[in-house]
Amino acid sequence: MRRKVTVVGAGNVGANTAQKIAAKELADVVLVDVVDGVPQGKGLDMLESAPVEGYDVRIVGTNGYDETADSDIVVITAGFPRKPGMSRDDLLLANYEVVKSATEQAAKKSPNAILILVTNPLDAMCWTAMKVSGFKREKVIGMAGVLDTARFRTFIAEELNVSFENVTAMVLGGHGDTMVPLVRFTNVSGIPLSELTDQATIDRMVQRTRDGGAEIVKYLKTGSAYYAPAASTVEMVESILKDKKKVLPCAVSLDGEYGIKGLFVGVPVKLGKDGVEKIYEIKLDDSEKAALKKSADAVQELVTVLQQKTS
Ligand code: APR
Repeated sequence: MRRKVTVVGAGNVGANTAQKIAAKELADVVLVDVVDGVPQGKGLDMLESAPVEGYDVRIVGTNGYDETADSDIVVITAGFPRKPGMSRDDLLLANYEVVKSATEQAAKKSPNAILILVTNPLDAMCWTAMKVSGFKREKVIGMAGVLDTARFRTFIAEELNVSFENVTAMVLGGHGDTMVPLVRFTNVSGIPLSELTDQATIDRMVQRTRDGGAEIVKYLKTGSAYYAPAASTVEMVESILKDKKKVLPCAVSLDGEYGIKGLFVGVPVKLGKDGVEKIYEIKLDDSEKAALKKSADAVQELVTVLQQKTS
C-alpha cells in the first residue's frame, strides 16, 4: 500500500522536508500552505524532478485539506520563522493560531495519523497540537532533539576532525536556550567525549549547540535554519514509516517520567510504526536533573500563557 505524508507549510522547512521525503521514496507527499499557488508551484516543481532523480512518488500542492485524507504522518511546519533578535518564545502567540488551525483540519481528515511538530516554540506547539487533536501522546511528537544533537555532533566532529557519523550525542530538555546537552552520554565510536578533549572545549561546544538556531538566524537575517531541520524531520518520518525503531531524542508529552507531567520535553524515545513506542528514562546526576527541571520550567511558562489565553 502506498504511504502518504502531509507537510503543512510550504516554506523553507516544509518544502525541503517534502523534497527529501520524495527523494528517499518514503511516501506520496501532500504539501499544504495558505498562500495560493505556492504549494501548487513547489509541488509541481518537485514532481518534475522525479524523472531526473528517479523517484516514483506523487507530490501534490494544495491550499485545502481534502487531498490530505488518510495520511500516515502529518508534519506541521506552518508558521512564522524567527527573525534576528527574536527568541523562539516570541513566536508563541502568533504560531499558536497557525498550529491550532492546521491541526484541527489535518486531524479531521487523518484521524489515525501521527503528528510531527516542527513549528516553534516547539514544545508549546506540541502541547497545542495534542490538545486540539485529542490524539494520544504516542502520536504527537516534536522535532527538536534530533536537530539539537545534529548540531552538537557537527561541532564535535569538526573540532576533533573525525567522521560526523562516528559522533553520538544526547540533548534533552526543551528546544530553547535551556536545552540540556548531556556530555556524559556523548561519545565518538564509544569513546567518551571527556577522554578526547578538555572541559573548556566541551563547554564551548555545548554553548554553541544551545545557540545553534540563533547562529543561523544571525547569518540569514530574514529567516531561520531549514536544511538541518528538514533532514532531522525526515529521519523521524523514515523511522516511523519503515518501523526502524530508531532511538532518537524527541519532544514527547511526559506523564511522570523524569518527574515531569503533562509537558512536552525532549527525551530519548523509540520511534516505530506506532509513533513513540518507548520512552527511555535514563538516570541523571544532580546537575543534569537540575538543568532538565530548569528547561521544563521554561516550557511550563509558555504553556501557562497558552492556558490563560485559551481558557
Ligand atoms: N496554514 C498553512 N500554512 C501556513 C499557515 C497556515 N495557517 N500560516 C502560515 N503558513 C505558511 C506560510 O505561508 C509559509 O509558507 O507556513 C510557511 C512557513 O514557511 P517559512 O516562512 O519559510 O518558515 P520556515 O523557515 O519554513 O519555518 C517554519 O519551522 O523551524 C520552524 O521556527 C521555524 O516556526 C518556524 C517553522
